[in-house]
Amino acid sequence: MPSYAITGASKGLGRELVRQLAQSPSNTVLAIVRSLDPSSPLAALAQAHPNIHIITGNVTDPQSILAAAKEASAILDGKLDVLIHNSNSVDMTTFSHSPTQVPFDLEATRQFYEEPIRTAVWGAAWATNAFLPLIEKGDLKKIAHITSSMANNEVILKTGVDYALAYSIAKAGMNVQIAKYAAELAPKGIKTVAICPGWVDTHEGPKPPQVVEALKVMQAQFQKWDPSIKGQISVEESASEQLRVIEALDAARSGTVIRSKDY
Ligand SMILES: NC(=O)c1ccc[n+]([C@@H]2O[C@H](COP(=O)([O-])OP(=O)(O)OC[C@H]3O[C@@H](n4cnc5c(N)ncnc54)[C@H](OP(=O)(O)O)[C@@H]3O)[C@@H](O)[C@H]2O)c1
Repeated sequence: MPSYAITGASKGLGRELVRQLAQSPSNTVLAIVRSLDPSSPLAALAQAHPNIHIITGNVTDPQSILAAAKEASAILDGKLDVLIHNSNSVDMTTFSHSPTQVPFDLEATRQFYEEPIRTAVWGAAWATNAFLPLIEKGDLKKIAHITSSMANNEVILKTGVDYALAYSIAKAGMNVQIAKYAAELAPKGIKTVAICPGWVDTHEGPKPPQVVEALKVMQAQFQKWDPSIKGQISVEESASEQLRVIEALDAARSGTVIRSKDY
């Protein structure tokens, strides 16, 4: 009876991970969201699948995520098999910034770097530490953080992608932190992994023309690194690849960064 908890479950990849995991009635799936919307597609999913439990919790607020872990513990009898930290925050007004655009302004610079680091680094640590007592008692003992190939120096150099500076640095921090967790938690039999989910179409509704244009530019850049990238993949494809990575995670691979497409 494996149990899973997924942060950032309201939409996109988080919600699809919940959907796929819930297909197996023996799984218990905790969907952690910042706020509960009873008319949302996630709420409809939970209506249709009694093995989904929606829990409110914000990974950027330590007390909130601790309360979520307490609620999870009551549902799961104190044990959790797999934690997937999927939440992500970016400031779209500065998302495209490259290094030379870092402003000569302390507050603006702090804000620029802090926004994505809140979810990728602090939020990842708070969510992991809050759920750790449950993971320690679980059977599978696995922790996955969802990262990005944007944090891979080889990808940056091959594609020439100089933008998304703060986001990429935050995900690089996530990758280091997941290795530190692997080193610290190995004696307890806990395995960790940072998963690159691929370039995924999580856009809801029709794409405005400027988004379509930007995607074309990005595709040409990504193909310089991997010519097999023919466009964004679906959330269904990415989530099932991610679940294969988590399934295969063992002590030998703990603490590494894995591109889910390779599974
Ligand atoms: N889409 C891609 O092509 C791609 C590529 C590489 C990596 N990734 C990574 O894959 C993961 C999922 O990506 P996605 O595109 O599905 O989702 P996303 O739009 O990046 O957001 C995922 C979730 O994060 C939570 N979130 C958003 N802003 C937040 C904030 N300020 N504070 C706390 N939580 C916040 C929201 O969940 P709740 O409202 O439920 O809390 C949201 O549903 C992310 O970690 C992303 O960086 C995606």
